[in-house]
Amino acid sequence: MLALSDIEAVLHRLYIAAPQASLRKEDRKKATELGGMLLEIDRIVKAVGKGRPFRMVDAAAGKAYVGLLAAELVLARKARTGQVILIERESRRATACRRAGASLRAPGVDIEVRATDVADAAAWPQEPDLVVALHACGPAADTIARQAIACRTRHLLLVPCCTSESVAASQLAVRRAEALGLPHHAEVRRRFIQAMVDSERTLALEAAGYETTVIPFVPPTVTPHNLLWRARRVGEPRHMAAAAEKLERLWSD
Ligand SMILES: C[S@@+](CC[C@H](N)C(=O)[O-])C[C@H]1O[C@@H](n2cnc3c(N)ncnc32)[C@H](O)[C@@H]1O
Repeated sequence: MLALSDIEAVLHRLYIAAPQASLRKEDRKKATELGGMLLEIDRIVKAVGKGRPFRMVDAAAGKAYVGLLAAELVLARKARTGQVILIERESRRATACRRAGASLRAPGVDIEVRATDVADAAAWPQEPDLVVALHACGPAADTIARQAIACRTRHLLLVPCCTSESVAASQLAVRRAEALGLPHHAEVRRRFIQAMVDSERTLALEAAGYETTVIPFVPPTVTPHNLLWRARRVGEPRHMAAAAEKLERLWSD
């Protein structure tokens, strides 16, 4: 079990550095989120076994809180070797990842920053052990899920963020809402659209052979975007076929 104080100490060293400055309120919230994510990563690292280096991707990494803290607090603590690939399209944030990585204490874990869009297939390794994405915004969540499937990751931990109109299933949901005659009240529509988007994401992973659970990884008071898609590649043909059939029904107008 990881102590919150350990997570906060690493956040401080990597991202604040100045000894006299303390963590802000949002940094403490982030630490709680990281506690939830690192617990999940810890379980996966244990399940993968020690025989070879553990390879993971932190996609839409931002400042790479998840990838870097997993390297130090999960992999290095277990004396595991590995590789953490950070994919982030904004060059300013990619630079922040590199700067933070320089203060990391994770011998044996290679950190690589790839400053590109998650849609760039060349940025993804083949068959990583884990793809993680915390607060992947709008359509990035779907692109990450597609790339994770395409590169045959063994595990995926995906926490989508805001659902914008550019999310394909959101456009489908709006058409369905109209066809069903649902009222235009924003809060009613929002819930319907979110349920459709969440359903589509779940079925797409299951149809691709991933056993998928959707759970709150922290309470909603920490973040309203607190649902985690936890997916493990099992490739069970009957479940895949059943999910594919449901997915087709969902999309057929
Ligand atoms: C809400 S932030 C989350 C960052 C980080 N995962 C975290 O939890 O702190 C989303 C990040 O994803 C990046 N991003 C969004 N769309 C992307 C895309 N298509 N390709 C690569 N990065 C993307 C943004 O630049 C931003 O840094």
